[in-house]
Amino acid sequence: MIKVCMVGLGKTGREIVKVLLAQEDIKLVAAVCSPSSSNLGKDIGEIVGCADTGIIVESSDNIEQMIFRSKPDVAIDFTNPSAALKNARIFSKMKVNLVIGTTGFSNFACKKLFVLTRKYHSGIVYTPNITLGVNVLMLLSNLASCILNNYDFQITEIHHKYKKDSPSGTALKISNEIKKGLISSGVSQEDINIPISSVRAGGVVGKHEVMIIGEDDKIEITHESFSRKAFALGAIRAVKFIYKNSGYYEMSDVLNLGRILSEYVERDDSMSKKWRKYNIADIPVTVEDA
Ligand SMILES: NC(=O)c1ccc[n+]([C@@H]2O[C@H](COP(=O)([O-])OP(=O)(O)OC[C@H]3O[C@@H](n4cnc5c(N)ncnc54)[C@H](OP(=O)(O)O)[C@@H]3O)[C@@H](O)[C@H]2O)c1
Repeated sequence: MIKVCMVGLGKTGREIVKVLLAQEDIKLVAAVCSPSSSNLGKDIGEIVGCADTGIIVESSDNIEQMIFRSKPDVAIDFTNPSAALKNARIFSKMKVNLVIGTTGFSNFACKKLFVLTRKYHSGIVYTPNITLGVNVLMLLSNLASCILNNYDFQITEIHHKYKKDSPSGTALKISNEIKKGLISSGVSQEDINIPISSVRAGGVVGKHEVMIIGEDDKIEITHESFSRKAFALGAIRAVKFIYKNSGYYEMSDVLNLGRILSEYVERDDSMSKKWRKYNIADIPVTVEDA
C-alpha cells in the first residue's frame, strides 16, 4: 500500500483526491493547503463532496509534523511554483518522494529540484504535462519535425481564464521536442522559429495544437483534455513509478514512450523484412481475379 499526501486542493488537487480515495493500492493519508486557506481544518471528504474520511486538511506551515504523524511515502503537489519549491525542500529532506504537477517552474527552479534529489537521495517526478495523451502528442511532434524539417511549425494552447502561466509549460515542452527533432535532422538553431499562441478563456481544461505547414499540405496534431480526471490518472502512474525510486525524472521516464517506440520500430522492421521475402509471384491470383 502506497501512502500518499495531497498538497494543493484547488481545481486539480480536488479531482486527484477523488481518484485517490477510490484506489485499492494507494491510501490518501494527508492533505495540505496554504496557511490562509478556507479549507484548513476541514475533512477532505467535505471539500471534494464525498463522505467524511477522517483526514483533516493541514497547513503547509506544519508539513514536518504532518510527515512525522502520517508517514506518507509520496506527496503530490499541484500548487504554485514558489509554494511547490518551498514544500519540495521539506519533503526531500524528510525522504518523502514527490510528484510535482505544478507548472511555471523556470529551468533554474527545475535544476534546484534536481539538486534536492542528489543532496537527499530522494525521488522527484517533475511533470508539467501529466497526461498520457499529451506526452504522445510530444512524441509525434518530435517525429514529425525529424521528417518534415522544411515545414513551418506553430503551437496554439488554450486554457481556462484562471491559468496563471503563459505560454503553458506543456507548449514550451512541445516546442522543445520540435526543436530537438529539427536540429537532429540538420536544421541549424538560428533558423528555428516556433511561434506559440496562448488563449486564456472560459473553462477550457486544456488544449494543445501543433500545426505543421508546408507549401502544399498541412498536418495538425491536437490534444484536448475533457476533464481533470486525466491529470489524476497521470498523477497515479507517477506515484507508482516514484514510490521506490530515487533521482529526478520527467513524465517521459514514467511512461517510457522511447522504449515503446523502439520496440515498435523493431517489430515493424522485422515485419517489412518478412513481407519483402514473400514473393509476389507466389500469391494465388488467377487471370479471372485480375
Ligand atoms: N501537470 C499538469 O498536467 C497540470 C494539469 C493541471 C494543472 N497543472 C498545474 O497545477 C497547478 C495547480 O492548478 P489548479 O488548476 O489546481 O490551480 P488552483 O485551482 O489555483 O489550485 C492551486 C491551489 O494551491 C493551493 N495553495 C497555494 N499555496 C499553497 C501551499 N503553500 N500549500 C498548499 N497549497 C497551496 C491554493 O489553495 P489554498 O490557498 O486554499 O490552499 C490553490 O487552490 C498550476 O500550476 C497548474 O498549471 C498542471
